[in-house]
Amino acid sequence: MIKSEEKGEKNVPFIMLGLKLPTDPRWVNLAEISLEDILTDHAYCEQKAAVSCISLIQGFPDKKELVRELSPIVTEEWGHFRMVLAEIERRQFNLGTQRKDLYVNQLLAFQQKGGSREDRLLDKLLFCGLIEARSCERFRLLHEYLTDPYLKEFYYKFMVSEAGHYVLFLDLARLYFPQDKVKTRWESYLKEEAAIMQRLELSGNRLH
Ligand SMILES: [Fe+2]
Ligand SMILES: [Fe+2]
Repeated sequence: MIKSEEKGEKNVPFIMLGLKLPTDPRWVNLAEISLEDILTDHAYCEQKAAVSCISLIQGFPDKKELVRELSPIVTEEWGHFRMVLAEIERRQFNLGTQRKDLYVNQLLAFQQKGGSREDRLLDKLLFCGLIEARSCERFRLLHEYLTDPYLKEFYYKFMVSEAGHYVLFLDLARLYFPQDKVKTRWESYLKEEAAIMQRLELSGNRLH
C-alpha cells in the first residue's frame, strides 16, 4: 500500500501526506523532554484509532469493503497500543491518564453532524485519514530528529504503518463517493486542520 518503502525511500515526504502546515521543528526537542507524556498520549491515540475503526464497522456494516479493510486495522492499532505500552513499561514509566485531546476535539467539531448517513460516512473517513496523516508526519519527525537509535527505529515503524492507514481511509472515501466530492471536502478538512494546528499551543507532551 505504501509506495515509498518499495522505492527504497527512507521517509514519507511531507508533501505526500497533503497536509497544509508542517509541524514546527521545535516540537521534536520539546517532545524529547517529555518522553513519558508523549508515550502516554501516543498510547491513547492508538487506542482511539482502534475504537474509531470499530465504530465505523458498527455504524456501516452494509459497506462490505469498509468492514473487510478496517477489521485488520483494529488489530493493528491495538497492537500499536501494546507496543507503546511495552515501551512505557520498559522505561519504567506509568501509562497515566488520558488527557483532553484538544486537536481531535476541534477536528470533531468540524465533522458534519446533520446531513445524510452517507455524508457523515465521508466525513468520518476523511477525519480518520487526516489524523493518520498528521500522526505519520509527527512520527517522521520523531524518527528523524530524536537521537536515541532505539527510539528512531521505534517511531519509524509507526510512521510507515500510519501512512498506510492514511492511504486506506482516502481510498475508502474514493470507493464510496465521487472523486470531486472527496477532493472538495478533503481540501476543506486540510484547511481546517492547518488552522487548528496554528491555533494550538506548541506542546512537547502531546503527539498532536
Ligand atoms: Fe497506529
Ligand atoms: Fe493508524
